[in-house]
Amino acid sequence: MRMTDLIGKKRDGGALSRDEIRWMIEGYTKGDIPDYQMSAMCMAIYYQGMDSEETYELTMAMLDSGDKIDLSGVAGVKADKHSTGGVGDKTSLVLCPMVAACGVHMAKLSGRGLGHTGGTIDKLESFPGFSTAIAEDAFIRQVNEVGFAIAGQTAELCPADKKLYALRDVTATVASRPLIVSSILCKKLAAGADVIVLDVKTGSGAFMQTEEAAFDLAKGLTEVGRRAGKKVVAVVTDMDEPLGNAVGNALEVKEALAALRGEYKGDLLELCLTLGTQILREGGVAKDDGEARQMLEHAIESGAALEKFAAFVTAQGGDAAAVYDPALLPEAPVKLEVPATDGGWVKRIHAEDVGLTSMRLGGGRAAKDDVIDLAVGVVLHKKVGDTVAAGESLGTIHARTGEAAKEAADMLRACFEIGPEKVERAPFIKGVVR
Ligand code: URA
Repeated sequence: MRMTDLIGKKRDGGALSRDEIRWMIEGYTKGDIPDYQMSAMCMAIYYQGMDSEETYELTMAMLDSGDKIDLSGVAGVKADKHSTGGVGDKTSLVLCPMVAACGVHMAKLSGRGLGHTGGTIDKLESFPGFSTAIAEDAFIRQVNEVGFAIAGQTAELCPADKKLYALRDVTATVASRPLIVSSILCKKLAAGADVIVLDVKTGSGAFMQTEEAAFDLAKGLTEVGRRAGKKVVAVVTDMDEPLGNAVGNALEVKEALAALRGEYKGDLLELCLTLGTQILREGGVAKDDGEARQMLEHAIESGAALEKFAAFVTAQGGDAAAVYDPALLPEAPVKLEVPATDGGWVKRIHAEDVGLTSMRLGGGRAAKDDVIDLAVGVVLHKKVGDTVAAGESLGTIHARTGEAAKEAADMLRACFEIGPEKVERAPFIKGVVR
C-alpha cells in the first residue's frame, strides 16, 4: 500500500477500506508515515468526510494503537462521561459522586486544562496532597471500594490519537466530524466503561458553534459507540455563556461543593441531573428518567453525594477537611468587584473570553508546561437573561495582585453584552441523542 494512493482516493471522495485505515494508523503511530502525508490525509478527510463504516474503522484502529484498561475487576455497571470542553465546566466533580451514591461505578480518566478551558485534574489539585497518578490496580480497587475514581490519562492509551490530535491542532483540521468522533471515542473505549455519556457543547464557547453541527456530532458519536458495543448517550448543551458562575480552579471546586451540599440550583446542577439520569437509566439501576432523577436528587439532599466526594478525595491522598470547610481551599489575596457601566438585560457573556480572563490571571496554561495559580479566577454574579443596574457588580475578580485584578476587570466587563430589551434565556439542554 502507498500513502499517496490513499490520500488521492480520499481527496477524490472515495471510501477507505478497513485494511487501508488500519495500515495508515499503524504506520503513522510507528513513525513510518510522515506528518506531511498525514496532514494531507486529515485535510482530505476534513473536506470529503467519512461514512459511518470508515468512521467506525478509524475509531477501532486508533483504539488498537495502544493499551486498554480492563475494568472486568470492577463489580456491576461501569460508567464514564466526557465533555467536548467548555468554560467553567466542573461537571465531573458533581456528577461522579452523585452517580456513585446511586450505585453506578464511575471510572474516569481526565486531563489538564490548556488555553481557555480548564481541566478536571488541575481543579482537583486544589485539595492539598491530591494525586491522579494512580496505578491501574489501585484505580480498580478504588472504583470498587469508593464507587468512583478519577485518574490522569497515560500516554499508553491511544497513542495514535495523541499524535494525530497534535497534528490536527496545527493543520486547522480539528473541526471534522469523523476526526472528532474517532478521537473522543477511541479514548472512551480504551477506558473500558459499559455506559458512556457525552456532553456535546454548542455555542460560542464550543467547537461546534451551531446546534445543527452539535447534533450531527452527537449522532455520529452515539452511532459509532453503539456499534462498538457500548451504551452511549449524547446530551447537547449550551456553551454560549460559562457553565455555572465560577471560572478558575479552586473557585470551581467551591462551586461544585456548593452543588453537592444542595446550595446551588443553576445550569450546572441541571446538567449533572440530566447526564446522571442517562447513566442511571442506561446502567439499569433506574427504570425510567423520573426515577433516575429522584435518586440523584436524593443523593444530594441526604448528603450521600458529598460523603462520596470526601471519601474519593481521601482515597486519592487529598485532605478531605476542605470538602466540609471550603475556606481551607486556595484563596486569592485580592478581590475586585466589576461594576456594570450600563443597566439593562444581559444578552450574552462570551464564554471563551471569560476563560481567557481567568487564564490571564494565571488560572490557565498558554503552554503545556506552564505552572498555574489554583486560587485565581472569576465569579460571575449575572447570567444571560438577568437584569442589571448601572453600577451593579457583574462579577468578582480573584487575583494575586491589584494590577492583575484591574486588567482582568476590564477584560471581564468586555465579555458582557447588555442591552435595553428583555432577554429570554434559550433552553440550556438542547436535546438528548440516544
Ligand atoms: N476532544 C478530543 O478528544 N478530540 C477531538 O478531536 C475534539 C475534542
